[in-house]
Amino acid sequence: MRVIPVSFPNNFLWGVSTSSHQFEGGNTLNQWHDWERAGRIRSGAPSGDACDWWRNAERDLDLCSQLGLNALRISQEWSRMEPAFNHWSEEAILRYRQIIAEAQRRGMRVFVSLHHFTHPRWFEARGGFLDAQAPQLFRHYAKRAVRALGDLVGDWVTFNEPNVYAAFGYLFGEFPPGRMNELNSALSVFAGMMRAHAAAYDVMHREQPSASVGLAVNYVVFEPARDNVLDRQLASAYDSLFNRGALNYLQGEPLPLPFAMMAPSAPQCIGKSDFIGLNVYNRLHVRAPWGENFSKGGLHVPGHLPQGDHGVAAPYGEAYPQVVSAAIRTYAVLNRPMYVMENGVPDSADRIRPWLLVNSLKELRRMWQQGYDVRGYFHWSLVDNFEWSEGWHLCFGLFELDRMTGERRPRHSAELYRQIIADGGIRRETLELWKNAPEMSAPAT
Ligand code: BGC
Repeated sequence: MRVIPVSFPNNFLWGVSTSSHQFEGGNTLNQWHDWERAGRIRSGAPSGDACDWWRNAERDLDLCSQLGLNALRISQEWSRMEPAFNHWSEEAILRYRQIIAEAQRRGMRVFVSLHHFTHPRWFEARGGFLDAQAPQLFRHYAKRAVRALGDLVGDWVTFNEPNVYAAFGYLFGEFPPGRMNELNSALSVFAGMMRAHAAAYDVMHREQPSASVGLAVNYVVFEPARDNVLDRQLASAYDSLFNRGALNYLQGEPLPLPFAMMAPSAPQCIGKSDFIGLNVYNRLHVRAPWGENFSKGGLHVPGHLPQGDHGVAAPYGEAYPQVVSAAIRTYAVLNRPMYVMENGVPDSADRIRPWLLVNSLKELRRMWQQGYDVRGYFHWSLVDNFEWSEGWHLCFGLFELDRMTGERRPRHSAELYRQIIADGGIRRETLELWKNAPEMSAPAT
């Protein structure tokens, strides 16, 4: 019998994460469609047919079966479900029911997110999450979603990464509505999303008492670039706001000063998350004063550190397996089950992905062994997909996508993940092979 030194419990969830706009194709009713038409995609090409899931998700569900996955995370596109205010699409509901049933038939437990960065154009026109009515509107959608799918699905993620949505849309101008340096708005949007989360949590439990309703947060390790007070303070401010914002709301604690004065409180959020999804990719280095790199918020990635392919204008981030344990330790105070709900790297040549996969899983297993309640791992992602403002430039797939022919070609990491799942852990020779990060000589640009 083969001895597996890094082994996982039998009921561990092995999955991949996906999202509606990045995979379905033909999403023309949301605010991202307008953003794409306004020419805001750096590499040019819009989402278009994406991975063609609206017509044929089944082809990729077969790939999931080949990998031996027992879990899948998708998102439901609000703009398909409710294309106009209070008008619901039966066709969309039917298609989601089909996709979910097909995944379940292949042995996967399906987690459904209600909001993964996109929402209907009519909702954006009202001001998105700055609109005082946003929580009620989201609650209404959540109720409808549970009525439509609750007999099939029990695991719900209200929001994917409210921290990324607020920061990229209102501080960095990378996501619609493309506003920059508006800290007040970013904090109000974040608070609006947390209120909407609480409102959805309540109604979803009312509709489906057995539902498990959580939230997915992005967690980044912010490393002071130099050992000085300014770098340390800026890194700690990022950590408090970006990493711990959701935690504060769920615990009913104010954000640290001076941010607490700008961020509306929301005591209705306390305790309202049945699990936590952790989306963990990167370490970023923080250098103050901001000087010439002000627009990047003092964040950078030294070139010699392990990383995947560069974005069009900036590096994506340092690939950093230890972010897994940092996030788990931080969110463990909530005393709820945790899932690594996204982890991956842009890497078209699959140069560094195997190292990241093996070492992130090693970190996760180490935390589980120490008693942390972490129940699954979802890789981002199955197939190359539409990477937001980077368009098709950054490739996150275990499978490479040929957009001309629709062909999917497995990268080495697909076979590696399949083997790890089949073994229920990581072989000694695999650990040895991927002990060190590959040389940084030639990241693709
Ligand atoms: C997002 C995904 C995105 C991935 C890679 C995550 O923060 O949830 O939508 O594709 O990162 O950048």
